[in-house]
Amino acid sequence: MAILLSTKAHTMQDWKAALLAVDPSLEIRLFPDAGDPAEIEAAVVWTAHDMMELRRYPNLKLIVSMGAGVDHLLRAPGPPPGIPVARLKDVLLTSAMAEWVLLNVLRFHRQDPEYRALQQRKEWLELSAPSTAERRIGILGIGELGSASARVLGSLGVPVMGWSRSARTLAGVQTFHGADGLMAMAAKTDILICLLPLTPQTRGVLNTKLLSALPRGAYVINGARGGHMVAEDMLAALDSGHIAGAALDVFEPEPLPPESRFWTHPKVFLTPHAASITIPSSVAPQVVENIHNMRAGRPLINLVDFSLGY
Ligand code: GLV
Repeated sequence: MAILLSTKAHTMQDWKAALLAVDPSLEIRLFPDAGDPAEIEAAVVWTAHDMMELRRYPNLKLIVSMGAGVDHLLRAPGPPPGIPVARLKDVLLTSAMAEWVLLNVLRFHRQDPEYRALQQRKEWLELSAPSTAERRIGILGIGELGSASARVLGSLGVPVMGWSRSARTLAGVQTFHGADGLMAMAAKTDILICLLPLTPQTRGVLNTKLLSALPRGAYVINGARGGHMVAEDMLAALDSGHIAGAALDVFEPEPLPPESRFWTHPKVFLTPHAASITIPSSVAPQVVENIHNMRAGRPLINLVDFSLGY
């Protein structure tokens, strides 16, 4: 039996080598060279893979997302019915996201855009000092990624708030939940960070209603999914000055089309879905463990809860 890999051509070999380093006996097929469809027992896939295509494999028993997010696998038509989906939970994925969040929080908190503008004008001017203890951070999503970012930011001495759909507690974080909690947190947030899973409930959460609930001059950081942001609402909030700056790693669609205003907007700091990139050698042990679990009929790890959408 064989494992099907499907991702960008330039990373396919890295994935194959990483899985074989953990279990050299695995038979790995690189999409689209799947060979006999009846031999495929597991598919390890990234965003571009067509879920209808996976219905071709009659003996498929496991689908693994090559990232922390699984929205691309769950959206219609979804995975073949009855096939479990696992996602990745990885210390490097989590710490890389926390680094990217920290980079952008410090960029805005320490007035870096303003100092760059002064440098351009050769203007020697010190701005009033930012107060770390008074800079209010609000994190949307306090799961794996959000709670790690909260810990890192908390260690700087900056007050951290966190929002989730249902009530949660997190040490050192003032938590909010539900629709009312979202607006209550927004009203006190200077830097809003989105690290939510993308589900039908969270799609479009970064919209005019939420953005205008933030104090004027707030910043937004989105490291989650492009689908969380209503692009026109974000551009309008940036244009009006209500939002002073945005660090955006994710868009819909990706790659971001050349005509998008986000590319050139002076208040936007853009990265090409690169905030936290899966390192195959780091995640291969959990993928192989799940393949072994599947073969032995043992419980699978990091399974997606279809009812929650992550
Ligand atoms: C990246 O976007 C991931 O889901 O890991």
